[in-house]
Amino acid sequence: MPPIRTAQKRRYLVCPPEHFDVRYAINPWMTSEEPVDVDLARKQWDTLISLYRELGHTVETVEPVADLPDMVFAANCALVLDGKVFGAQFHAPERQPEAAHYRIWFENAGFETRVPSHTCEGEGDFTPVGGYILAGTGFRTLPAAHHEVQEFFGAPTVSLHLVDPHFYHLDTALFALDSENIAYYPGAFSAGSQKVLRTLFPHAVISTRQDALAFGLNSLSDGRNVVMAQDATGLMEGIAARGYVPVPVDLSEFRKAGGGVKCCTQEIRE
Ligand code: ARG
Repeated sequence: MPPIRTAQKRRYLVCPPEHFDVRYAINPWMTSEEPVDVDLARKQWDTLISLYRELGHTVETVEPVADLPDMVFAANCALVLDGKVFGAQFHAPERQPEAAHYRIWFENAGFETRVPSHTCEGEGDFTPVGGYILAGTGFRTLPAAHHEVQEFFGAPTVSLHLVDPHFYHLDTALFALDSENIAYYPGAFSAGSQKVLRTLFPHAVISTRQDALAFGLNSLSDGRNVVMAQDATGLMEGIAARGYVPVPVDLSEFRKAGGGVKCCTQEIRE
């Protein structure tokens, strides 16, 4: 019998998809083949937020800004730990103005915030787990930002090299199931980084490429309930076998921009 898992109440920051669209291409998912169905995107996002509230989490919103179609991806705006905010410096010029809007939100909410000196995309590339901060690089966040994050929080960062452009952010290839364990897709990482992950997390749940491409690893766990892409059925079974409870959701419109559950959600850890 798998262990009984315990949920913890979380505080999330999100940005309504008022201005969400695919208007430029900064990752392989952003093709103009199929236009975004704006009404469907809104419905899917509303369902996600209702799920969070039903699970007992607190959800706060930042005001969406016109002409920032990726601002809905709140995870990229910061890494928040111990009530301290390490902001973002976006790689793509199109997204750079987002950072200040989020910073102002955090300042108004009373947080100490740090403006990074190097390219870094918040929780897109940083995952706190097991006493470490797992840190992705290769496409967006630079290793120099990993050092800066380590100094700012005084927690060890573990640099992991992403090698497949479909998994351009760490949070498309790996997520924390709870404070100790992770699920990930090994093929998204360099051989050396795969070895690091095997050593640090010998009991990790391993995802197939298919489930990873379904954005199954762009999931959000509260330690028990795992809100995740409904198409990642193999991964759902894998985590259920470990005692976690998959909560499937359809975010197909956001996948057109290369985003999923986690991308839409910034966690505020206090
Ligand atoms: N279109 C956005 C980008 O490429 C998607 C961001 C997804 N966010 C994430 N945390 N993976 O920047």
